[in-house]
Amino acid sequence: MIVIEKAKKRDLPAMLAIENLCFSNPWSKSQFEESLSNFLVAKKTRKLVGFIGVQKLIDEAHILHMATHPDHQRTGIARKMMKKALSVRAKKFILEVRKGNLAAQNLYKGLGFKVISIRNKYYSDNDEDALVMMYEKL
Ligand SMILES: CC(C)(COP(=O)(O)OP(=O)(O)OC[C@H]1O[C@@H](n2cnc3c(N)ncnc32)[C@H](O)[C@@H]1OP(=O)(O)O)[C@@H](O)C(=O)NCCC(=O)NCCS
Repeated sequence: MIVIEKAKKRDLPAMLAIENLCFSNPWSKSQFEESLSNFLVAKKTRKLVGFIGVQKLIDEAHILHMATHPDHQRTGIARKMMKKALSVRAKKFILEVRKGNLAAQNLYKGLGFKVISIRNKYYSDNDEDALVMMYEKL
């Protein structure tokens, strides 16, 4: 069973471990510390298997970051975390995703996100474009 709960300070080491496994240009410890209050974590039999960051700005929310531990991917964890994030009181949800990250794009499209614009060369590590995607509650 997967439990989604607010991230706590003690979750940071496991979040950082997943971050380093999932990203070539990972967030630093201090980046996670600064926005920890925005994060939810997914736990499977008490083991931290994923995280998502969502920041509310008036009636709009920004999905900051998310990942599922590679050993637990494709088991519905990200979909579950995202559904929880979308339950935040906001009308619109915005995120950026690398043009080449088809796994994440499939996840977002499956939940109803649509591409609304492209930011050229948004990612400085490889000049990759970002797709800006939005989900709007009815
Ligand atoms: C993208 C990511 C968060 C998806 O996490 P996940 O827990 O494996 O996703 P889920 O199991 O909930 O998958 C939900 C849907 O997303 C899509 N999806 C997920 N992984 C996919 C893959 N490797 N290829 C294609 N589609 C994929 C599918 O539509 C899937 O539904 P299905 O399994 O019923 O076909 C995960 O691959 C990850 O952590 N990647 C590295 C970090 C990253 O890219 N984060 C997002 C940054 S914007």
